[in-house]
Amino acid sequence: MFTLVFCTFFITIHTGYGVTVPTLKLLDGRDIPTIALGTWLGNNTQGRVEPVGTEVEQAVKWAIDAGYRHIDTAFAYKIEDQVGRAVNAKIGGELKREDLFITTKLWNDAHALDAVVPALRESLRRLNLDYVDLYLIHWPVGQFSNLTYDYTDYVDTWKGMIEAKKQGLAKSIGVSNFNRQQIDRLIENGLETPAVLQVEINLNLQQPELLSYCKEKNIIVMGYTPFGSIFPSKAKSDAPPPRVDEPALVEIARKYEKTVPQVVLRYLVDIGVVPIPKSLTKSRIEQNVDIFDFSLTQQDRDLLKTYDKGYRTIPQLKWQSHPCYPFEKN
Ligand SMILES: NC(=O)c1ccc[n+]([C@@H]2O[C@H](COP(=O)([O-])OP(=O)(O)OC[C@H]3O[C@@H](n4cnc5c(N)ncnc54)[C@H](OP(=O)(O)O)[C@@H]3O)[C@@H](O)[C@H]2O)c1
Ligand SMILES: *[C@@H]1O[C@H](CO)[C@@H](O)[C@H](O)[C@H]1NC(C)=O
Ligand SMILES: *[C@@H]1O[C@H](CO)[C@@H](O)[C@H](O)[C@H]1NC(C)=O
Repeated sequence: MFTLVFCTFFITIHTGYGVTVPTLKLLDGRDIPTIALGTWLGNNTQGRVEPVGTEVEQAVKWAIDAGYRHIDTAFAYKIEDQVGRAVNAKIGGELKREDLFITTKLWNDAHALDAVVPALRESLRRLNLDYVDLYLIHWPVGQFSNLTYDYTDYVDTWKGMIEAKKQGLAKSIGVSNFNRQQIDRLIENGLETPAVLQVEINLNLQQPELLSYCKEKNIIVMGYTPFGSIFPSKAKSDAPPPRVDEPALVEIARKYEKTVPQVVLRYLVDIGVVPIPKSLTKSRIEQNVDIFDFSLTQQDRDLLKTYDKGYRTIPQLKWQSHPCYPFEKN
């Protein structure tokens, strides 16, 4: 009784700290916040975009202040150090490590069973953390740092992930960019089911069959590149509509006094997805998490569903010749 009263009091204090983000239950019993800040800076014609100064660290601090409790990063993004500095600066006072949910990913060059735990230890060293909440196999495709393919079976990589969890280095484990057959193969091998599948989900690529498969298996789906091609500056010329100025979307946003990006994120949460919007801009970081004080109608959702065109913004066609390439081949 006393504990209950105390807990309620404690939670009340916390809600004063930015937006309160709801959580979903993972199949291993842990809670995952339903929206995460993305930290991949993207690619330009020169390859990976390098961080300018401490801009990622600053973005993560703004995000935590705004109410985000989930940060999505990866070894491959080369900014785990900045994420770690922000997280460590924010915890220790009122906010505890266990209030945050940190996701990182195993890169393609460490797929051998005995390479997984050392790779996670290296990520933890960069993050300056004792554990991550979620560790994902970034791609089912193995490739050494000299760019020759590694044909390690991802089932063995998954065994390495299970070992990482057993050692307490990752509280939950999952996969990214796996297709349904590849997840089925992990399960058919008698191994534990991934708690999470992270894949591209946005208006143009809603993946309803994959979502219902995951629901049936109790796998939570994190949706990357949640804005897809809505921003003209990011959209390729062949990307289907809508853009952010689409009248039907502007109309829905106006009805709730929200923005089109907020409507898109809310829709993704409504269809059961954990979206991962990336922004380095304080006002957008705050805007993107402020999506839990309004509800879309079924009519709104029906309209948003019509934009699903099966269009993928990150097909990674350069890996098409690898036997574990996960997507439809063009
Ligand atoms: N598992 C994987 O293989 C994989 C692949 C891709 C991405 N991801 C994860 O998913 C995250 C998100 O994907 P993404 O970075 O490709 O794309 P995204 O989040 O869909 O879009 C990011 C872009 O949208 C802009 N933006 C954000 N909020 C906005 C708003 N409210 N109004 C206007 N513009 C806004 C950002 O600009 P500013 O930053 O300039 O504000 C940035 O240019 C990544 O950061 C990464 O964590 C994972
Ligand atoms: C981004 O560029 C890096 C470095 O060139 C490359 O390894 C990576 O695969 C690229 N990612 C995407 C999604 O194109
Ligand atoms: C690339 O690296 C792998 C793993 O270190 C090695 O086995 C392979 O021989 C290398 N290939 C080339 C062409 O250097």
